[in-house]
Amino acid sequence: MSIKNRVALITGSGSGIGKQTALRMAESGAKVVINDLVTDKVDATVKEFKAMGLDVIGKPADICDKTSVDNMIKETVDTFGSIDILVNNAGMEYAGALRKLSERDFDVTINVNLKGTFLCCQAAHNYMVKNSHGRIVNIASRAWLGGPGQAPYTSAKAGMVGLTRGLALELGGKGITSNCIAPGLIHTPLWEELPEKNQKFLLSKQPTGQLGEVDDLAYAIMFLADDDSSFITGQIFYVCGGRSLFSG
Ligand SMILES: NC(=O)c1ccc[n+]([C@@H]2O[C@H](COP(=O)([O-])OP(=O)(O)OC[C@H]3O[C@@H](n4cnc5c(N)ncnc54)[C@H](O)[C@@H]3O)[C@@H](O)[C@H]2O)c1
Repeated sequence: MSIKNRVALITGSGSGIGKQTALRMAESGAKVVINDLVTDKVDATVKEFKAMGLDVIGKPADICDKTSVDNMIKETVDTFGSIDILVNNAGMEYAGALRKLSERDFDVTINVNLKGTFLCCQAAHNYMVKNSHGRIVNIASRAWLGGPGQAPYTSAKAGMVGLTRGLALELGGKGITSNCIAPGLIHTPLWEELPEKNQKFLLSKQPTGQLGEVDDLAYAIMFLADDDSSFITGQIFYVCGGRSLFSG
């Protein structure tokens, strides 16, 4: 298996899962574009990875803005010659009881997770079609199955699952696969900030009794992004320690 010399753009790769995926892909010989809304995160990540001798460039952009997305994808192709792998990872959530959520909470959550993914797929697929090759990996969440207090996020991530399946059908004959990863509880700084009793409760629901690490996601994403994964498309790949097997 190999992604050597492939060009990968990972949205929201200035931190967390996206950053680790960018690191692992670049270490495997891919040319990687670091995108984030926050320019400082992009600059710091590019500096860190370049110091390791990795082939990366930075493209700060808001994935909710069509012009910025179109420019980012064009500049990627201008610099590296193609875009072969698109990882739609940038995401966020406004959570809370339905009665407390605002219209803005809903709009922003949908815009970043769902509309941003749509815009990136739309811009990138034109170039992928020309090369008869492409790998789209959308980072949804196990929460697409439903989560109390997560109405906007669940809606957005369920939308990403639908988009993934639709694109698999539309682009399957053009050498482009479209798959989804549904992460569960992942060990990120947010986890460390939770009160101990919340951590205990959440872990008690994990069949494995464990949290996932960012590398669990990075390697799953790389598997779907690989040249050799051409027969896998339209799928939801759960990386959640078995938590998707039951509700509640
Ligand atoms: N961490 C988890 O436990 C977990 C679980 C399930 C799903 N996910 C999903 O995985 C993805 C990554 O999560 P993470 O925990 O690494 O998050 P993170 O907050 O560490 O990283 C997300 C990055 O996206 C960037 N971003 C936000 N809005 C953006 C925009 N409009 N344009 C460009 N970049 C933008 C942020 O600045 C941030 O750097 C998200 O889509 C999240 O919903 C995470």
